Amino acid sequence: MCGIVGYIGPKQAFPVLIKGLTRLEYRGYDSAGVALLGDELQVFKKAGKVSVLEEYVAQQGKKPANVGIGHTRWATHGEPNDRNAHPHLSQNGEIAIIHNGIIENYNSLKVELQQRGHEFKSDTDTEVLVHLIEDIYIHNEGLPFEEAVRMALGQVIGAYAVVVLNKTMPDLLIGARKGSPMVIGIGDGEHYIASDAAPLVEYTRNVIYLNDGEVAVIDKGELVIKTIDNDIKTPYIQELEIHLESIEKGGYDHFMIKEIFEQPRSVYDSIRGRISLKEELVEMAGIKQYENKWMNLKRILIVGCGTSWHAALVGEYLFEDLARIPVEVEYASEFRYRNPVVGEEDMVIAISQSGETADTLAAIELAKSRGATIFGICNVVGASIPRASDAGAYTHAGPEIGVASTKAFTAQVTALILIAIAVGQRKGTLTKERVRTLLNELETIPSKIEKTLESNDLIKFIAEEFKDARNFLYLGRGYGFPVALEGALKLKEISYIHAEGYPAAEMKHGPIALIDEEMPVVVIATNHSSYEKVISNIQEVKARKGKVIAIATEGDTMMKKMADYVIEIPDCDEVLLPLLATIPLQLLSYHIAVMRGCNVDQPRNLAKSVTVE
Ligand code: G6P
Repeated sequence: MCGIVGYIGPKQAFPVLIKGLTRLEYRGYDSAGVALLGDELQVFKKAGKVSVLEEYVAQQGKKPANVGIGHTRWATHGEPNDRNAHPHLSQNGEIAIIHNGIIENYNSLKVELQQRGHEFKSDTDTEVLVHLIEDIYIHNEGLPFEEAVRMALGQVIGAYAVVVLNKTMPDLLIGARKGSPMVIGIGDGEHYIASDAAPLVEYTRNVIYLNDGEVAVIDKGELVIKTIDNDIKTPYIQELEIHLESIEKGGYDHFMIKEIFEQPRSVYDSIRGRISLKEELVEMAGIKQYENKWMNLKRILIVGCGTSWHAALVGEYLFEDLARIPVEVEYASEFRYRNPVVGEEDMVIAISQSGETADTLAAIELAKSRGATIFGICNVVGASIPRASDAGAYTHAGPEIGVASTKAFTAQVTALILIAIAVGQRKGTLTKERVRTLLNELETIPSKIEKTLESNDLIKFIAEEFKDARNFLYLGRGYGFPVALEGALKLKEISYIHAEGYPAAEMKHGPIALIDEEMPVVVIATNHSSYEKVISNIQEVKARKGKVIAIATEGDTMMKKMADYVIEIPDCDEVLLPLLATIPLQLLSYHIAVMRGCNVDQPRNLAKSVTVE
């Protein structure tokens, strides 16, 4: 949530910042701003997208500057307008700050500062912090500016990633993090700071991920990493794994459709190196590391938010089916504020695309404090969640930029399938034959996804028919149920059509009252264990004149007679169903959203990475 970028070095800062903000825009896009430090300090900020800011700066005129900070905002405190956009300035206008996160005690700090004569121009929590830094700095003569920043951060309760510059110190840039991500890029005589690696990729491959409570001080070309308490840390420089082409649209109209079409590859990448068909074995380092524990688990807890929570639900079916371990699936936000019964015996699996979701991180910390072992399933290498986990598995889907998650979901499900097979195999709950079948099926999944994507034109045609619907119902049973939930979420997120996912049999207990000729009902109706039951549910919808769009197994002639529209997917083992059945639903929401003129990559009010609770 909120994208931040900073630059200090020989280049002109503005082009670096604006390009960086465009790459970070998926994190928030209700306003944007930059502060440029050259002979003078210039601040430009505007409500709206980064492109609006760019035009505004072009009109206003900027001066040369080799230092700068930029921000793209997802509003928490204060409505999205020019005034509340970042950067924010200190009272004397000399210090500028950008911030991602929430300062929880901003109100009490604000009152104290107001009593000391500070006047605030915005409604944000961030402005309080820059005034606090200034207050400490000017009231402690001789105090190094960097120390004033650390002292101010020491008073903050909440989460932050901040970058600060000072007009009177043009060789200095300071970044700090607690609970919100921050990465430093090291170039040739230059440094970059950003919320994630996307803005750095084209300039450097050498990066340092700051740890919580660390401050990066870049002064006269030298970088020093220290803690808020001034303990110097040895920086760990990593090589960036992502490449430029993976964060660009590559000829597609939107990131979302590019990412949907990347799924044969991303699912393949999630499987790659983890199965041996010859030895009929799944090998995952994170399982090996805690093998004993996995073998003797009494239950598994899975936590996540949004789409990752839907993957967790698939995980519940998988672990119970394949490894015979009871599973509880929890919204991370609920789990962290209950008094959950969790302890040393438990394995808590945390699922997150970004690895930065605040609620999921907090759920991990709570489970950890009660002695549970944490297994993180994450897409972003080096993010906070894998770092806070005892063991884990990366999903290897590659960067996901579209705010609505697509390829990350199928990669999460793939990882869960592999883990469940690995555990089931070791526990002996799966026969050799069953393992062989599953592994062979998994091998064919990328090409089956390819085949499923061939329905794109048909799905576009169906989208045209239903683009003006006001409500949608999604039904599924068994493995089809989380798929129904995910399909409904995708539609809501990007087309703003109200949609509900429901277990098909539960329809009778409520949603059936909504069905009439105006109600499209998407049904996961493949040839698996509940096939006949789902057919009965379809009849119930048809009897009330609902319009049925069925996701059915290739060659199902009966379904063609029954449903109004049929989207076929290749035959597959039931446990792999979510990997195929989700794809037509992603395409359906994508086409409907495009036809309705919605911004599919940046839907209103949403953000890709929710780093505030
Ligand atoms: C946001 C995103 C969703 C995502 C959810 C959880 O709401 O818009 O696409 O599923 O956060 O994010 P995570 O990174 O933890 O998977």
